[in-house]
Amino acid sequence: MSSKYHSPNMGRRSFVKIVTSILGTTMAAIVGLPMIQFFISPALKKVTGDDWISLGPLENYPLDIPTPFSFTLRRVNGWERSSQSYGAFVLRQSGNDVIVFSDVCTHLSCRISWDTDKGRYFCPCHGAFFDKYGEVISGPPPRPLDRYETKLEENQLLIHLLEG
Ligand code: FES
Repeated sequence: MSSKYHSPNMGRRSFVKIVTSILGTTMAAIVGLPMIQFFISPALKKVTGDDWISLGPLENYPLDIPTPFSFTLRRVNGWERSSQSYGAFVLRQSGNDVIVFSDVCTHLSCRISWDTDKGRYFCPCHGAFFDKYGEVISGPPPRPLDRYETKLEENQLLIHLLEG
């Protein structure tokens, strides 16, 4: 006389249940983990904001005339997509000697423009002027125009965009 808890059939059933549970859990993990990783991976990517931007061939820029260049940078940070516009003035002094200024005024960040007739940069917000080399001539800006770090690669002018 044997109790139902000690029957060989129940032992087999329990074994099949355990094996089925283990196999089901393993299969769910194999299928589910990559899906979870796919959905959360954008949030784990780090956006550095450290880029070299090509401004094209150096020959495109005339000697001794500040020449504007603008570009838009698109970034993906997790699920957030953003785009930001930037502007610069390229002053090619001689040969490969080049300075690239940010077009953002150092007072309150308005966009400056180059006045060819007067040979100086002008900020319309508070009437500031900068000379061709970015030095403050007059107005409230506390410092000269910011300069981008530059380099030449295969005759392409590149500027370094570094953001916190
Ligand atoms: S923002 Fe340029 S002078 Fe004030």
